[in-house]
Amino acid sequence: SGDVYFGALRRTGNFSGVVEQTPYGETLVQLGLNAHDFCLKLQAGETFTSPAIICGYSNSGFETMSHNLHNFAKDFILRAGLRPVLYNSWEATEFGVTCEEQKKLAKRAQELGAELFVVDDGWFGERNGIENGLGDWYVNEEKFPNGIDELIKEVKSLGLLFGIWVEPEMINPDSDLYRAHPDWVLALPGYTPLTGRHQFVLNLNIPEAFDYLLERMSWLLGEHAVDYVKWDMNRELVQPGHQGRAAADAQTRQFYRLLDTLVARFPHIEFESCSSGGGRIDYEVLKRSHRFWASDNNDALERNTIQRGMSYFFPPEVMGAHIGNRHCHATFRQHSIAFRGLTALFGHMGLELDPVSADEEERAGYRKYAALHKQWRDVIHHGVQWRIDMPDATTLAHGVVSPDEAQAIFLVSQLAMPDYTLMAPLRLAGLEASARYQVTLLDHPNIQITGEGGHTMRKLPAWMTTPQTVSGEWLQQAGLALPILDPESAILIGLQRV
Ligand code: GLA
Repeated sequence: SGDVYFGALRRTGNFSGVVEQTPYGETLVQLGLNAHDFCLKLQAGETFTSPAIICGYSNSGFETMSHNLHNFAKDFILRAGLRPVLYNSWEATEFGVTCEEQKKLAKRAQELGAELFVVDDGWFGERNGIENGLGDWYVNEEKFPNGIDELIKEVKSLGLLFGIWVEPEMINPDSDLYRAHPDWVLALPGYTPLTGRHQFVLNLNIPEAFDYLLERMSWLLGEHAVDYVKWDMNRELVQPGHQGRAAADAQTRQFYRLLDTLVARFPHIEFESCSSGGGRIDYEVLKRSHRFWASDNNDALERNTIQRGMSYFFPPEVMGAHIGNRHCHATFRQHSIAFRGLTALFGHMGLELDPVSADEEERAGYRKYAALHKQWRDVIHHGVQWRIDMPDATTLAHGVVSPDEAQAIFLVSQLAMPDYTLMAPLRLAGLEASARYQVTLLDHPNIQITGEGGHTMRKLPAWMTTPQTVSGEWLQQAGLALPILDPESAILIGLQRV
């Protein structure tokens, strides 16, 4: 409930946002180009269009804000696409990419239910770590003695689509490209450019640099059977300069021109926008891409709140959500496969793990949750998303209802030990009040009630053990009783109108 004024800038990269209280007691909000690194001299007759803002107002809280933004994205921005369940090799192999290893991963990924295989960083130049190779967009012949086509052929023979990682706007000082063209860096004369993740930014305003990238990317995408590109961009623009002038906005415009040209040349290719997660998630990039990587932090517990935040602004189908290894790459925490699988269910699902070293229980879990996602993908990707307020801040609940309100899927995640002794009822949203729904417990942790490893004081509500048919009104007004859940576990509830 309540008034919400909201807005988002339709621009990628550096920007400026100001919120201030005027002397008149009003709150003034400004969003736009950042004057700090923007410079433009307009010639007579020339025009310049500053970036647009998407903005709106809701008198019924954040849910309406979010629905309006999602509808805007769906009606005006989103590119249609399959949004296949993908497998990404990054957390399995990092830079240690070889053709033989990737072929093994692809086979396992296919067995687990992936529909697309994405080879991540490390396939090109002398890219053996973060310090080298960016800019040299040629296949590494030691890793791929017969070119990248050998892997693509294998991937396709498994019935999978093929995707590949690139970070075109970047250049490592330790690269052949930099050695040949040290003057292609986006920098200001008189200042030593700073590296970020050991890389400089390539100045796309230099026509030769732009043409080089366009040629290399067109070679990669046009001469190989590529279906999907993960386009990364892993550092900030610091003192971005061209011909002695601030050039952040000019650089962004050239980035759009490059991507637009590739999208027009290769309309069948789906693009993922990535920037270690987070840095390139905006409505202007969304016009040119199919999904975002939400964060490199793939810890299922952290991911619950990361995804909740992102969900207000962008619909589930564009939010990359991956099941990771049992040992999280980012935090070294461990979560059950059920918690990881359910957390990754409500987005554009992926698997980012090592299926070769995983045990059978883990692999069975990957298969199960990939299959569950495919079964519900249509509802998750085309329905209406609802976040449910729970009085206990340790419980996070959300779900998606199909546009005709006939089907719905809701998740209740318990993030920590509950603050209260009893769980509040789960009051659902978005259902048809006068209809009756069959309530099904789709997935739950192994809830032992008593005995060894169980809880002596826990009782499961009746609907969890005996299927029930309940009215939409009851589900929304009275709600479903919930059991006390262990921290870092979740239950999944399906609803079907009868
Ligand atoms: C970034 C991305 C990761 C991975 C690495 C590769 O951190 O977010 O997913 O692609 O780069 O270097």
